[in-house]
Amino acid sequence: MVVSFHRPTRVVVDLAAIKENIRAQQPYLAENQTIFAVVKANGYGHGVLAVAKAAKEAGATGFCVATLDEGIELRTAGFTEPIFILGPIDLSGLKWASKYQLSLPVTSLAYLEDLIAQAEQLSLSKDNHLLLHLAIDSGMGRIGFRENQSLQTAISLIEQQANLVWEGIFTHFATADEADRSYWQQQFSRFESVLASLPRQPKYVHVSNSATLLWQKPIGNVIRMGISMYGLNPSGEALQLPVALKPALSLVSALTQVKLVEKGEGIGYGKTYETKASEWIGTVPIGYADGFIRKFQGFSLLVDGYECEIVGRVCMDQLMIRLPKELPLGTEVVIIGKSKDKENSLQDLANYVDTIHYEIACLISARVPRVYVEES
Ligand SMILES: Cc1ncc(COP(=O)(O)O)c(C=O)c1O
Repeated sequence: MVVSFHRPTRVVVDLAAIKENIRAQQPYLAENQTIFAVVKANGYGHGVLAVAKAAKEAGATGFCVATLDEGIELRTAGFTEPIFILGPIDLSGLKWASKYQLSLPVTSLAYLEDLIAQAEQLSLSKDNHLLLHLAIDSGMGRIGFRENQSLQTAISLIEQQANLVWEGIFTHFATADEADRSYWQQQFSRFESVLASLPRQPKYVHVSNSATLLWQKPIGNVIRMGISMYGLNPSGEALQLPVALKPALSLVSALTQVKLVEKGEGIGYGKTYETKASEWIGTVPIGYADGFIRKFQGFSLLVDGYECEIVGRVCMDQLMIRLPKELPLGTEVVIIGKSKDKENSLQDLANYVDTIHYEIACLISARVPRVYVEES
């Protein structure tokens, strides 16, 4: 998808906020722990390369991504730090994992056996070994070993292969962002007993996302820091943050048309809105192809400190808002962020469409340019 620079809609990312958020959480780390910045999904919609650079400057010593391609993107951009791929890769991509030294998760014995068979075809040199992390399903039910016998077999299989390196072990918690700690505790205990059963500890042990770092007991030596680095509360509104974080992302646009529409006229597809009086209607160049979904109809955008309701259906590329008065073309429209004394947070948008802020940020499509500032 081509990035549309020639329209006023853009994501503005404050890189100073990302750096401050990382630094503000350093006191939560134990001495042996380091931060790996989770920059999957285009840095949670913020733009992967700029976020990775900022995170590195603030002290992150490695990165986590979801896919092999995301790892390759970081490597080819020049990042030499360790990169963990958090989801299982299609084994046809093994040669790239080896070439770019990207650490892979091993999710089951069957997957490992396939991986070994594929690796044999590659005739890897000693320098091009595969770095493997054993995924433990301690209760998330997503990826990883649930059963200790196959885990032990996997470890001995890896140790027998000259070109495989058992580099790490990890798990992921399902409820680290909840006040009720019982399920988190259950997962934690399961993982602890897995650790106790290991013949040795690999180089990396990693279990902690942002919520585990902030509210639970972060063990292991790598913290996989995602959402808190972007300045958002991992729990949404459920738990209070123990540290002040600053949201890094704003989404802005501008009025591309302003018109006075007579009472009783229809606005948008399906004529779902009819003007109640003579109304000033503004058009904004953002729509569902930008990730601003149709469910936002009725939500208010901010123009010059005014709350302006989205009237009519959100179109693919544009939407209409009701203005309090005639405003000049080009007036800034804030979708996410501050306008005078008003603010639309990612959390406000998430609440409106009944989802989480992670999803709203990730939905903003590649068509919207990402612009970087250092404001804090
Ligand atoms: C395996 C894994 N680790 C870490 C993270 C980062 O989580 P958070 O953004 O809540 O810090 C994620 C996010 O989805 C994940 O899937």
